[in-house]
Amino acid sequence: MPTPKELVAMMTLEEKCSLLSGADFWHTRGVERLGVKGVMVSDGPHGLRKQDDQGDHLGINDSIKAVCFPAACASTASFDRALVRKIGETIGDQCQHEQVAVNLGPAINIKRSPLCGRNFEYMSEDPYLAGEMAVDLIQGVQSKNIGVSVKHFAANDQEHRRMSSDSVVDERTLREIYLPAFEAAAKRGKAWTFMCSYNKLNGEYASQHKWLLTDVLRGEWGFDGYVMSDWGAVSDRVKGVPAGLDLEMPSSGGQNDALVVQAVREGRLDEKYVDLCVERMLTIHQRYFDHAKPETPWDQEADHELAGKLAAECMVLLKNEGNILPLKKGDKLAVIGEFAKKPRFQGGGSSHINCFKVTSLLDALDAAGDAYTYAQGYSLKSEDIDAALTQEALDAAKAAEKVLIVAGLPDSFESEGYDRTHMRIPANQNALIEAVAAVNPNVIVLLYNGSPVEMPWVDQAKGLIEGYLAGQNVGAANRAVLFGEVNPSGRLPETMPRRLEDTPCYLSYGGEGNTAVYNEGVFVGYRYYDKKKMDVLFPFGFGLSYTTFAYSNLVLSAEKILDTETLTVSVDVKNTGKVAGKEVVQLYVGDRESSVFRPVRELKGFEKVELAPGETKTVSFTLDKRSFAYWNTEIHDWYVETGLFDIAVGSSSRDIALCAAVTVESTVCIPAHFDENSIFMDIMANPKGAAVMKAAMQQMQSAFGGGEGEENKSEAASEAISDEMNMAMMNYMPLRAMVSFSGVSREQLQALLDQINA
Ligand code: BGC
Repeated sequence: MPTPKELVAMMTLEEKCSLLSGADFWHTRGVERLGVKGVMVSDGPHGLRKQDDQGDHLGINDSIKAVCFPAACASTASFDRALVRKIGETIGDQCQHEQVAVNLGPAINIKRSPLCGRNFEYMSEDPYLAGEMAVDLIQGVQSKNIGVSVKHFAANDQEHRRMSSDSVVDERTLREIYLPAFEAAAKRGKAWTFMCSYNKLNGEYASQHKWLLTDVLRGEWGFDGYVMSDWGAVSDRVKGVPAGLDLEMPSSGGQNDALVVQAVREGRLDEKYVDLCVERMLTIHQRYFDHAKPETPWDQEADHELAGKLAAECMVLLKNEGNILPLKKGDKLAVIGEFAKKPRFQGGGSSHINCFKVTSLLDALDAAGDAYTYAQGYSLKSEDIDAALTQEALDAAKAAEKVLIVAGLPDSFESEGYDRTHMRIPANQNALIEAVAAVNPNVIVLLYNGSPVEMPWVDQAKGLIEGYLAGQNVGAANRAVLFGEVNPSGRLPETMPRRLEDTPCYLSYGGEGNTAVYNEGVFVGYRYYDKKKMDVLFPFGFGLSYTTFAYSNLVLSAEKILDTETLTVSVDVKNTGKVAGKEVVQLYVGDRESSVFRPVRELKGFEKVELAPGETKTVSFTLDKRSFAYWNTEIHDWYVETGLFDIAVGSSSRDIALCAAVTVESTVCIPAHFDENSIFMDIMANPKGAAVMKAAMQQMQSAFGGGEGEENKSEAASEAISDEMNMAMMNYMPLRAMVSFSGVSREQLQALLDQINA
């Protein structure tokens, strides 16, 4: 069997270029003459969406019957690496069974705004959490010798004008917020393929962005797989080849391939880039062929059960006043809401799974023989209040001890392809919740939604569960949590703001025309709300349990480390309640003093631990340079500023149980590049600059009446210029002021600069 390199050498230019785009919607091409076969790719990321030749990428046409797992908005809320790995392994097996070589996911763009139509498919507002979960999901799929395609690379955080919009993101923000999850997917996840996004990044389409696809992805992160385009994302195919875009999907009917042939023939494109693209694709496909196992069984019933079991771990209990939950078998229960019968459990678009079975909440209650009365309450078809449905719901509520209202976002409110314009659930649902709460104080709301919603009724609900989009066995998962068969342990992977106007990019989300400037910089999600000390509905990382936990004994392995060393942090967590439960122990790091704007604290570690009543476990974390660093735009690298850092451990970004501090010392010296316009303050902050300038400073100070002769200064002069003013004026003065104010010659100034910069 020839190696991919040898095969490339045997191909004509036309044959090679024909491989640079897909054969159809879901297949890559082969070269029959040489026995090179194409492969099939199919959408994920929360199941397998395998289509026949009636292909489309918008979720319009049917695909094979399959199993829908919790969407990423939900699975990430589990904060459970093993859980997403399990989803990955199961999808990997399904792909083996169906002979699909690459599952198109995970989708790991950052939730910059709650409005993004695709947030349900994305993981978090936090890059560390998204990266951690992505790595396990990827490793799960790839452990079955099926590739993933990590998407949408990069800065594809809105659906509005998604194929033309230019995401304008500054270097530091890109590195700290929008790239790290992709970095983890490449470096630790070892993803087989990446999918470039539709949008432009800082003026260049991702599909022809050399810096992104080659310099960073391959050069810095060591990615050795291939990059495919999002469906129809190619603008200039000839430019894309040397930039690192290996495969155009779905295809351009051979037109772009012909342009590449022509560019090579005319000497505008070096053929070696074409060879590289083809070799990279063949190498990955061979990995699949070497381990293809179509005999892998696919037990859909078993996967349906699994989907429900995993979904229960993703439910986030947000309120539980007076321990209204868990429900008891004998509770006189009214269930209200069309969603209880017709659940929304996945999002619309390319990830849409054609489920072989769906279990609604009512199905699950019936299967368990639970007693309840049901009222539809509202219609999902319109926002209008239906008087008859409302009356029926109020009658049911009045006759019950507890009322469970299932509410949320209908399909039309959020989907791939467009963004939301507001954060509201339909008006008839809001009105219904308020009306029901007015006749029965024991209201529990269960939400189905892919991203945060405003909750004007939140104070009237005693119980509240964020159910997200939990996959096709949603009903069983909901029931297990409602009745306490599973103790809820999900935590919010995003902040729930009070209102849209509070969100970090409210003023500029969506952009003007085709330009979307990421004005809020690194202050995305809780990084923004915490910095502004803003009130939020529910903070990042928050979620309740039917038990309680206590933290103690926070121990750091050192008081001081170098940035080349690691710090071990351990903490004891005890289940102080009466039932077993799982706590998500979260570790945040904050730089006490920084010369750049930094968030108050950032997630740098989390562990989910299961504890029996009364049980204590010690949880440990290892922090390294990246845990403390910010992206320094002078050295274009991660940099830790020497100083004190807070290590905060707790159960959410706003519920910090224990805090300790560590000093981290930088081993990196940022080279000084001062010139005559550099100000004294900056020069004095540099050790070398300070040494050289000390004498010169004295000269300057006396020129302003400070320093020597101070005692002779008149009272009027002292009033006119205080010591603080004197100091501030000195601080902000450029070096060239020495020429104007203290008779230093240009030559002397240059000599000083030479010494400092040497
Ligand atoms: C989506 C991708 C998807 C592809 C194929 C595109 O419209 O953005 O996420 O994988 O279609 O269906």
